[in-house]
Amino acid sequence: MFRLAHLSDIHLGPLPGVTYRQLASKRITGYINWQRNRRRNLHEGVTERLLSDMASFEPDHVAITGDLVNLALDAELEMAQLWLESLGPSHGVSVVPGNHDAYVPGALERACRTWDKWMRADMAPAITTRHGFPYLQRRGPLAVIGVSSAVATAPFMASGSFSSEQARGLAELLEKAGAENLFRVIMIHHPPVRGATATHKRLYGIRRFQKVLRKAGAELVIHGHTHLATTHWIAGKDGRVPVVGVAAAGQGPGSSKPAAQYNLFDIDGKPGAWRLTLQRRGLKGEAIDPVTIASEDLR
Ligand SMILES: [Fe+2]
Ligand SMILES: [Fe+2]
Repeated sequence: MFRLAHLSDIHLGPLPGVTYRQLASKRITGYINWQRNRRRNLHEGVTERLLSDMASFEPDHVAITGDLVNLALDAELEMAQLWLESLGPSHGVSVVPGNHDAYVPGALERACRTWDKWMRADMAPAITTRHGFPYLQRRGPLAVIGVSSAVATAPFMASGSFSSEQARGLAELLEKAGAENLFRVIMIHHPPVRGATATHKRLYGIRRFQKVLRKAGAELVIHGHTHLATTHWIAGKDGRVPVVGVAAAGQGPGSSKPAAQYNLFDIDGKPGAWRLTLQRRGLKGEAIDPVTIASEDLR
């Protein structure tokens, strides 16, 4: 059995000292938004409680689907790097960026450079983006495939994009990993499912993503961005593929979104007859320690 833990949307806080100059452009609206909402509802202590609960389940690998930070200031990217270091050897953790990690033009570049250790390819397709997506990492029976949907957007927008170059790269990696009988997990920040988010937060390229899956197949898709614990299904090559979201790991109680959760996937069986179960763990009510919120048989 292989155990994969899935965390997302840490939105690490608090924001470091911010100068007026750094608040140029989109960051002004983001900073006001953070002061109003996120500062109140996103608690560091909450993430720490999730992490120690997660460690007690001894996951074989940890997947983090983006939005590690808020405004993608250099100091935040470095803080997130230290936080990633604290999770253990980088070989055990995979990351894809979210829209908050690519908050303004140039931020994605810096995030990818700072977090390179956690996004490094064992195998890259013939065509990748200039930041090296998609990438493939072999971990046990898994092919962990990282896709980037993160792009800098205008103020008040939080949309993402799945480009045609990534579609070609993803198809190539899925086919290779499928031929090696690996259990293929795709990580992407934005949900590749129609109607899963408001229009200004949506992924552009959903149809393109789903076309790749119908042609090449996959065993599991995991995403963040919505801060919701959802399971959708999309068509794959050999049957339907679960698309699993997770509540934000940095979310404190008392917000309209569910309090902090993470997902534990247990993968068992063999190629053609995989078994996949999902346990959602997180904060509930007044309890200090995370509890099991839900369990689902996905395959
Ligand atoms: Fe987020
Ligand atoms: Fe997001």
